[in-house]
Amino acid sequence: MCGIVGYVGPKVDGRALEVIMEGLARLEYRGYDSAGVALVAGDHVVTTKRAGKLANLIRALALEPLPESNTAIGHTRWATHGAPTDENAHPHRGGQDGKLALIHNGIIENFHALRSALIDDGVVFLSETDTEVVAQLLARSYDKIGDLTEAMRQVVAELKGAFTLLAVHADEPGVVVGARRNSPLVVGIGDGETFLGSDVAAFIGSTREALELDQDQIVTITAQGASIINFDGTPGVGKAYHVDWNAAAAEKGGFPNFMAKEIHDQPHAVADTLLGRTNESGALVLDELRMDEAELRAIDKIVIIACGTAAYAGMVAKYAIEHWTRIPCEVDLAHEFRYRDPVVNERTLVVAISQSGETMDTLMAVKHARLLGARVIAICNTHGSTIPRESDAVLYTHAGPEIAVASTKAFLAQITACYILGLYLAQLRGGTYADEAQSVMKDLCEMPAKIQTVLDGLDRVREIARFMVDTRSVLFLGRHVGYPVALEGALKLKELAYIHAEGFAAGELKHGPIALIEAGQPVFVIVPSPSSEHGLHDKVVSGIQEIRARGARTIVIAEEGDEDVVPFADVVIRVPVTPTLLAPLVTTVPLQVFACELAWAKGLDVDQPRNLAKSVTVE
Ligand code: F6R
Repeated sequence: MCGIVGYVGPKVDGRALEVIMEGLARLEYRGYDSAGVALVAGDHVVTTKRAGKLANLIRALALEPLPESNTAIGHTRWATHGAPTDENAHPHRGGQDGKLALIHNGIIENFHALRSALIDDGVVFLSETDTEVVAQLLARSYDKIGDLTEAMRQVVAELKGAFTLLAVHADEPGVVVGARRNSPLVVGIGDGETFLGSDVAAFIGSTREALELDQDQIVTITAQGASIINFDGTPGVGKAYHVDWNAAAAEKGGFPNFMAKEIHDQPHAVADTLLGRTNESGALVLDELRMDEAELRAIDKIVIIACGTAAYAGMVAKYAIEHWTRIPCEVDLAHEFRYRDPVVNERTLVVAISQSGETMDTLMAVKHARLLGARVIAICNTHGSTIPRESDAVLYTHAGPEIAVASTKAFLAQITACYILGLYLAQLRGGTYADEAQSVMKDLCEMPAKIQTVLDGLDRVREIARFMVDTRSVLFLGRHVGYPVALEGALKLKELAYIHAEGFAAGELKHGPIALIEAGQPVFVIVPSPSSEHGLHDKVVSGIQEIRARGARTIVIAEEGDEDVVPFADVVIRVPVTPTLLAPLVTTVPLQVFACELAWAKGLDVDQPRNLAKSVTVE
């Protein structure tokens, strides 16, 4: 939430504004309530900021251009304190001379007390934000000390909560100072220019060399590079890394929106996540996990923690992991986990799933789990992010950058990583499924091609989506691994098309939800493979008959060759024959395309749905 960019370049070239605007465009998915920039020009700081999307700021800058500069900061906001207005947009000024400007991501929990004290001292506030309080504190501190880095260090000691802060001061041209606590900030190292960003997308157009910062650190950048200290004043170090994707991966590549592109990226996202996980003899090797095998063998319980779509990936994982390992596996919404007094100890393996690696609820749950003695593995898509760093081990998904706010390719990559983890644990612990792990891996390796087949045959889905633009409610039914897929289908439709949608376990139907069925009610049904165990397929087909008899319009996702569904389906969407546990990798895709196409047909902003932001860095 909130995108942050900072830049210092060579004195001569003055392209700071251009760099910041490019960075903001790439980070807009993190928040789009308002946007603003501050440049150091001559002996003063100039700012422009506007409520609404970045386009409003671009228009304002075109009407009143800013001077050239080599030092700048920029912000795109997801509002927490104060409505999305021009006044509340960042940057905020500090001091009576307005020589300091500051941007912020996160929440300053003690801002009321700090603000009251400043008001008592005669400070006049122009906004309702917690950020302006920090700008004023920093300006005061700077006036006393005359050093922006040290002033920042003194101010962060007074702050409670989570924050990334970037500041510039007119008396220190060529310097941007940043600070982070429980909120993302990475450094980009260029050739004679240095960048700061909420994530590497901010500067990927200029450099792929990055520095990961640790918790509670202050970074000071100049054109020559970055220097880091810890909040206690001791010298700090950053971890250097090379970003393994380039600017093209963060562009639309000919698709009308990022989401369409990311849906079509999915065969690659899954294939790349599978890459390099086996040795020559086909056994799973998870070197990057770096966790003691004896410890993993001793695990007697797994708890998956995540939010939203990532939690649905966890629900799919539960079916697979319990089946293959026979270890009891629970799935908890990260924000519930901490508050329910969970039974977790040294023999519990907690798996935290997060695309961004920055979701505050998940991060807090990770910390809580570790306090309780659990070992934590993060499944994450973002190098340099906080959750992997706060975990004992990490399994990266390789979906590439996900720009659209609603998650698609990260979901399939998360499910894939969970399968890999489950199979690895099965192999490690021996037992029935240890021998099968290799053959399941072979099945998994066939999935990218199957996902591509689904993607190639979705014209009918697009057609019904366009036909359904005026639909007010859609239901989704699934069973077994199809249940989380139904939940995900409903979530995608809610968040993209603002249509009321609910996902149900198909077996629940007769326990209540069937009352919702009336003539014409559209219902998507995810049908298990006819080869699935326990006669699940037939039970779901019976369910379709029951809702059809009550007037539902049934859109059925069924395996190639499954003719049983045909008499009861208004529309059949085919997916390739796939082992039951792996089916979500194909059955989810038509639902993503349906939601994306319907929202697009309604003229909505598919990539940036209202009220949302990617990477929820506040609780
Ligand atoms: C929905 C969506 C969200 C995220 C959730 C967790 O489309 O994107 O529900 O899945 O906010 O985010 P991460 O995975 O970044 O922790």
